[in-house]
Amino acid sequence: MFVAGTAGFVGMPEFSIIDDEKTKWKKIRKQFLDGSSTVLNLNNGSAGMVPKAVSQQLYQFSKVLESKAPYEAHADWEHIKKLSKQSLAKMIEATEDEIAVVRNTTEALNYVLRGINIPKNSTVVCGLHDYGHSINILERLSDENGFNLKMVDVLLPISNDRLIETYKEIIDEDCSLVLLTAMTHREGQILPIKEITKIAKKQGALVVVDAAHAIGHFEHSIKDWGCDYYCTSLHKWLSCPIGCGVLYMKKDLIEKTKGSYSAERVLDSKMAKFEDVGTKPFAIEASILSAIRFQESIGLKTKNLRLKALTDYWVEGMKDVPNVTTFKPDEYGAVCALHYPGKSTNIMAQLANKNIHIKKVSALNYTKKHKVKYRISPNIYHNFDDLDRLIDAFKTIQISK
Ligand SMILES: Cc1ncc(COP(=O)(O)O)c(C=O)c1O
Repeated sequence: MFVAGTAGFVGMPEFSIIDDEKTKWKKIRKQFLDGSSTVLNLNNGSAGMVPKAVSQQLYQFSKVLESKAPYEAHADWEHIKKLSKQSLAKMIEATEDEIAVVRNTTEALNYVLRGINIPKNSTVVCGLHDYGHSINILERLSDENGFNLKMVDVLLPISNDRLIETYKEIIDEDCSLVLLTAMTHREGQILPIKEITKIAKKQGALVVVDAAHAIGHFEHSIKDWGCDYYCTSLHKWLSCPIGCGVLYMKKDLIEKTKGSYSAERVLDSKMAKFEDVGTKPFAIEASILSAIRFQESIGLKTKNLRLKALTDYWVEGMKDVPNVTTFKPDEYGAVCALHYPGKSTNIMAQLANKNIHIKKVSALNYTKKHKVKYRISPNIYHNFDDLDRLIDAFKTIQISK
C-alpha cells in the first residue's frame, strides 16, 4: 500500500542545488494543477490550489474508499493520519494530543466559542478587522448569553505599537475573552499575537486565535504566542484539499470545552471529541500528509519569502497605476489589498473579462470610513508575468460612476 511521506511519493518537485531561483519556481509552478490555466486565480486567500501530487493522492484514496469497505480503508490509514498530526503539531509547536483535525477554521471557531462558558455581563473583545463570520458567532452568542461585545476599530494597516496600545486600552478586568486574527483577511496584516495575548492574560481573559491564514504561510509558534485556542484551515496556505483544518487548545481546556455531542463520554478530555462527527470524507484527511511533504520539499521559510516577494512585486508595480491605492502592512505575506474608485461590480466584471480572479473585500457595514478593497492573494505557483497581467489590467480599467 502507498505510504505518503516515504520513498515512492509521486510527483514531488525535484530540485537541484544548481537551480537558480527562476528555474526552481518554474519547476514548482509545474507541480500545480492550474500551472497552465488561462484563469489567473489571485484569490488563494479563500482556498489555495492543490499540487498535482496531493490531488493524485486524494484521488487514489477516494478510489480505495469507493471500491473497498470504507471504514476498513479508514482504519488502514491510521498511521498516515498519525504522521500528519505529528507534523501539524510540530509545525505550530503544539503536541499531538492538543490538536484535532476538523473541516476548517469556521468549524473550529464554532466549537470553541460555543463550547465555553462566557460569563454574562463580562466583555468579549474582537476587531472590525476580524473575519465577518467569526464576528457573527460572537454577535449571536452575545444576544443569547448577555455578554458585551467590544469592537476594536482601527484602519489597517497600522503599526504594531499602535495596535498593541489600542488593545491595551480596550481590554480591562471585565474582559473574559479576546478574539485575535493572526493574519487579517482584507489587508493581510500579521497581528502581534504574543504581545496582545500577554495583555489579555494579565486581565485573566481567554485568547482565541483565528489563524486561518497562518499555517503554511509564515512561521509561528503557539507556545510562543501563549494563546488558549487556535483555529486554522489547511486548504488555504498548506495546499491541502478543501475541507480540512486544525483546532488546538491548551490541555487543561479540553475537558472544559464542549465537543461534538455525539462523542462517547470517555472522550471528554480528548481532542478526539471534536472529530466525532460521523461518516465523513476520510480521503481528505488522509491526503493532508502529502501536502505537508510537498511543503517540506520546499521549506516554509523559502515559501514565505517567495510569497512576500510576490506581494512586493505587484504593490511596487501598482505605484505607477492611476487611481490605485495599496495597503501593504509592515508584517505581511501573500494577502494584501488595494482600493480602486468606482463601482465594484463593474471593476470585477472588467477583470473577469480578462480571466483575472481576485476578491472584493468590503468592510462590514459598521462605518463608512472602511473603504471597499480588492484583495490580491497569489500563491507560490504564480510568477511575476502573472502579476504584470494584473497590473496591466488595472491600467486599462474604465471607471464607472
Ligand atoms: C481570517 C479568516 N478567518 C476565517 C476564515 C474562514 O475560513 P474557512 O472558510 O476555511 O473556515 C477565513 C476565510 O477566508 C478568513 O480569512
